[in-house]
Amino acid sequence: MVRLGPVTAELIYCPSEATAFVVVAALPDVLKVSNIQMAMFTRLEPPTKAIQFSFDGELVNAAEGDTVAAALLAHGVERFRTTPVTGAPRQPHCMIGNCFDCMVEIDGVANCQACLVIAKPGMNVTHQDGPGEMELL
Ligand code: FES
Repeated sequence: MVRLGPVTAELIYCPSEATAFVVVAALPDVLKVSNIQMAMFTRLEPPTKAIQFSFDGELVNAAEGDTVAAALLAHGVERFRTTPVTGAPRQPHCMIGNCFDCMVEIDGVANCQACLVIAKPGMNVTHQDGPGEMELL
C-alpha cells in the first residue's frame, strides 16, 4: 500500500508483462464527489417535463428539449455508433455537430447526428454500425 497524496493505492507487479500496475484501493470522499462523479454525464436537476423514447429497444427517459445525445448520455449509453474500419465504439465528443461521433439511426434514418436532433416522444433510436445504410437519389 502506498499513499499518493490523498489517495491510498496498491502497487502490483505483473512479471509476465514486466509491468507494474497501480490499483487505487480507496478514494477519499472528496475525490469521489468532485472528480469521479462530475466526470460522468449527469443531470443537475430532474426534468420539469419528461418524455420517453427508445434506444436499441430500451426505454429512455428524457427532458423536453433535450437533444437525443444529451438524453442518451444521461441514460448511460456508451456506444452510439461503431467505426466502419475497426468497429470501435464511439460516443459524442463535441456536442455541436462537428465530430460525427454521435451518429445514430432515428426512425429508420441512418447518419443522424444525435447532438443536433431534439428528442421527441416515441422516437425509435438505434446505434449505428459502420457507415449506416444510405439511400441514393
Ligand atoms: S457530438 Fe460531435 S457531431 Fe454530435
